Amino acid sequence: MDKMAIKGGFTLNGSVATSGAKNSALPILFSTLLAEGEHQFSNVPRLKDIDSTAELLRSLGCEAYWKNSKENSGPNEFVVKVEKLKSLEAHYDLVRKMRASILCLGPMLAKYGEAVVSLPGGCAIGTRPIDLHLDAMKALGAEIELKDGYVIARVPQASKRLKGANVLFEKTTVGGTENLMMAATLAEGVTTIENAAKEPEIVDLARYLNSMGAKVTGYGTSVIRIEGVAKLAASKYEILPDRIEAGTLLIAGAITGGDVTVEKCNPHDLDALVTKLRESGFKIDLGANSMRVHPNTKFVAVDITTAPHPLFPTDLQAQFMALMSVAEGTSVISETVFENRFMHVTELMRLGADITPKTQVAVVRGKPMHQGKFLTGAPVMATDLRASASLVLAGLVAHGETVVNRIYHLDRGYEQLEVKLQKLGAQIQRAN
Ligand code: EPU
Repeated sequence: MDKMAIKGGFTLNGSVATSGAKNSALPILFSTLLAEGEHQFSNVPRLKDIDSTAELLRSLGCEAYWKNSKENSGPNEFVVKVEKLKSLEAHYDLVRKMRASILCLGPMLAKYGEAVVSLPGGCAIGTRPIDLHLDAMKALGAEIELKDGYVIARVPQASKRLKGANVLFEKTTVGGTENLMMAATLAEGVTTIENAAKEPEIVDLARYLNSMGAKVTGYGTSVIRIEGVAKLAASKYEILPDRIEAGTLLIAGAITGGDVTVEKCNPHDLDALVTKLRESGFKIDLGANSMRVHPNTKFVAVDITTAPHPLFPTDLQAQFMALMSVAEGTSVISETVFENRFMHVTELMRLGADITPKTQVAVVRGKPMHQGKFLTGAPVMATDLRASASLVLAGLVAHGETVVNRIYHLDRGYEQLEVKLQKLGAQIQRAN
């Protein structure tokens, strides 16, 4: 299995471009199941999770493939051709690879009145149940049975169409909001989602749905309204930039005391991170589509609490903890979205970080270089995407060599991270 070897201590400088957003591309690719025809996407990141999604779409009877970038104007173009599906079952072998596969439930149920989807099971960052997804489908009139590890869903009405309803999520859920939003586009009548997730990826999905002919309004706020339509048509769309990748690259610049500009991003999507970096002492310039962090080697500890958008994203918590592990002072990091998202803590401690993990709260006593303190390189391993990213960031400043094992996780969510970091001056190599 591939690993990443990093020689720490090199300051990153220069510009780097953000790729398309994984967490936007995944629901949008699943939304293609709602409409027959040729769906064309650009700015799709080349990631393992996209390959897994394509595999699942193909297993249902779609064609899903990359367009040859040489023959086309833009790179990273992806096509999904949808005809009447030949299967309405998302098999365990495919769903277990990627939890987001549950997002095929809403579209299949809405379009065909039935769907069988494997239960995804727990994962490294928490139990991550799908009860809210299922309750939402039931609210729209679906009957749900759990049998042999599968969700068996059907619409009992002769019309096979779901019925619009008011749904109040008792907890904010990104995937639940996406599944419901997709299901409601073809339902009879109006659906209102209260306490909807407000993430930029929700907005991106709503925009693609509307480009297919859906009638979704209120996206980006906590109340989304969907007026069901009888039919949708395949469309063309550019995936938004990945705010989590952009944030990770900005922190990479910050942690090495470098001068890094992250381009092709939407800075406004990262307000919470930028606020915290400024509070820590960094000067950050924001452009229309870029962010620049200025050199600072004497930044101070700040506290963060993760929460749904627009508050501090859980997907940047691990990376921010790496930064705080070399800040001056003590930082309290609270994780409120997932119950087990501190797997990076013990690995950061292997690099010498001084952290006390409690349940969902970690106290990080920084080891700033200007006080003669530092992290030291070591072999480490992570079982989750963002945890792996945090270890890479820590490796950039640790003395000596850090080897991050099992970078399979990194490849699920970061497009050529090592190439982007190398371009900025990092000594990082992929090795077998
Ligand atoms: N939850 C439930 N029941 C449900 C659904 C969610 O209890 O039916 C709980 C979860 O267990 C969690 C909380 O609600 O404690 C929020 O989960 P949410 O549904 O919002 O997360 P998700 O849709 O499973 C997406 C991203 C995650 C990101 C979270 C939170 C995708 C494909 N994944 O997951 O991204 O952390 O939202 O922002 O969009 C990542 O990219 O590394 C990643 C994990």
